[in-house]
Amino acid sequence: MSAFIHRFEPGAPDGRPLLLLHGTGGDENDLIPLGEAVAPSAPLLSPRGKVLEHGMPRFFRRLAEGVFDENDVRHRADELADFVENASKRYGLAAPIALGYSNGANVAAAMLLRQPQALFGAILLRAMVPLSSAPRSDLGDKPVLIISGAQDPIVPASNSAHLAELLRGAGAAVNHRVLPVGHGLSNEDVTLARRWLNDVARADGGATALAKGS
Ligand code: MLT
Repeated sequence: MSAFIHRFEPGAPDGRPLLLLHGTGGDENDLIPLGEAVAPSAPLLSPRGKVLEHGMPRFFRRLAEGVFDENDVRHRADELADFVENASKRYGLAAPIALGYSNGANVAAAMLLRQPQALFGAILLRAMVPLSSAPRSDLGDKPVLIISGAQDPIVPASNSAHLAELLRGAGAAVNHRVLPVGHGLSNEDVTLARRWLNDVARADGGATALAKGS
């Protein structure tokens, strides 16, 4: 298996798992409380990004803030998808919903575009377009929630709107919400993500563990 340091919290056996993807400088522990808050009994798979920027873990290299090394984005997104598919077999999991923040949301968006089979859907918190020339992909109605901040100094509104259009154009069922906040997370992110997951769980039928979070 492509090795990633990771945490796995088993949750309920029939729950739709969450793939937790931290922001720059985070690690595999960072988003566990957020995962537990939005889906209390979901299995949680939480890898640590392998790229170090001045000692801070990330999921891919960047040349400057918001300027990505796109060859590395492609390579790392594929490597992460490989890890997810192997870890899912090892732990007996269904395809997860990614819950990514900032750099973690960006690598989740790249996975959706390049390796859509690895994810059931995604919640992208403060995400931007990860690849300037996106591959043709068929997201076949995968559910995607994007939550952006109207005052985000890192992600321009036009960029998150473009991401929403890109994913919609590839066939995803995108819900794009913009909150009156900056790059940091707010209570409203948690509330929206929990509600959206419950809607997805209802539509998904079997994922009862998520429904317990309502
Ligand atoms: C990125 O590098 O993925 C974005 O600029 C977000 C960040 O990590 O600051």
